[in-house]
Amino acid sequence: MNAQTSLSRFLSGSGIPPNLAKVLLTAAAGGKRISRELRRAGLSGETGITGDKNVQGEVVKKMDLLANEILVEAFRSAGDAALVASEEMEEPLVLFPGAPYSVLFDPLDGSSNVDTGGSVGTIVSVQRVPPDGGLGRESLLQPGSTQAAACYLNYGPATTLVLTAGSGAHLFSLDPDSEDFILTMPSLQIPKRGKVYATNEGQRAYHHPGTRKFLEYLQTPEKSDGRPYSTRYSGCLVTDVHRILLEGGIYFYPADTRDPKKPHGKLRLLYECAPMGMIVEQAGGRASTGRGPISEVQPTQIHQRVPLYVGSPHEVAMAEEFEAGSR
Ligand code: AHG
Ligand code: MN
Ligand code: MN
Repeated sequence: MNAQTSLSRFLSGSGIPPNLAKVLLTAAAGGKRISRELRRAGLSGETGITGDKNVQGEVVKKMDLLANEILVEAFRSAGDAALVASEEMEEPLVLFPGAPYSVLFDPLDGSSNVDTGGSVGTIVSVQRVPPDGGLGRESLLQPGSTQAAACYLNYGPATTLVLTAGSGAHLFSLDPDSEDFILTMPSLQIPKRGKVYATNEGQRAYHHPGTRKFLEYLQTPEKSDGRPYSTRYSGCLVTDVHRILLEGGIYFYPADTRDPKKPHGKLRLLYECAPMGMIVEQAGGRASTGRGPISEVQPTQIHQRVPLYVGSPHEVAMAEEFEAGSR
């Protein structure tokens, strides 16, 4: 592949079923529009909060809603998704019964960065509609291992799209002149180990003892194995995992001892952890709850949260050992 392979050309030559390629192109087109709106948000009055909270009790930014509308409308006009579910919608929307795929998304990930010029992202998971054709919310309660495809967009200094449809993870860069996504890094391979960890250390007081020990281990100087690690944390899962995918290391958002009703960390299984996990696994990395693969968690709710440890195989395996108390 050369630097001029566009996303549509890549998808049409990749052996991906045409209907699935179409869903990914729709997600990319939505992402392109979100990218444009982000660049002008300060000019168009789209910064700041709406004053509402979402279904998860979190502050909603104007750009969260705009990004959600853009993606819902993209899938509505493309006609290629049966159901769409989103962080910003309590219930899934039935769009095109009969379409073979459903889509779940985090329209704007890391949206607290929007007003301060930080990077943000979009995460999309594509699921097959179950053979019985049911279009209830239960049809979306599928483990990550059965995802048909996943992609994310990182809106940083450049807009980047990383996707997988089950045979490798591939990186495309948005050409600001042609407005095409161009394949710039095919078949990504995450380094087997890294030098960086990304986590919100301000929450340390609420971490379980195993998580605290793991963090202490990463921070303890030891020349022979490259410690201490460095911290790189942007407040945007996509941006932090993107760095780790390219350069190695680990991102983690662990379980929390603060609220016994919310023991599962912050990140949502179906539209954050499962798709990011699929992409990283397809690049040779791992995604774990700390106890086992994210991809094997059977969801019970659309907005379910799980602890997440994702990145290079070496650091994720180490995190699992600390979480299990075996080191
Ligand atoms: P979202 O903006 O979609 O709600 O996601 C924010 C997520 C994730 O992107 C980020 O890594 C994490 O929340 C940051 O949370 P803290 O502020 O607790 O570190
Ligand atoms: Mn998010
Ligand atoms: Mn979000």
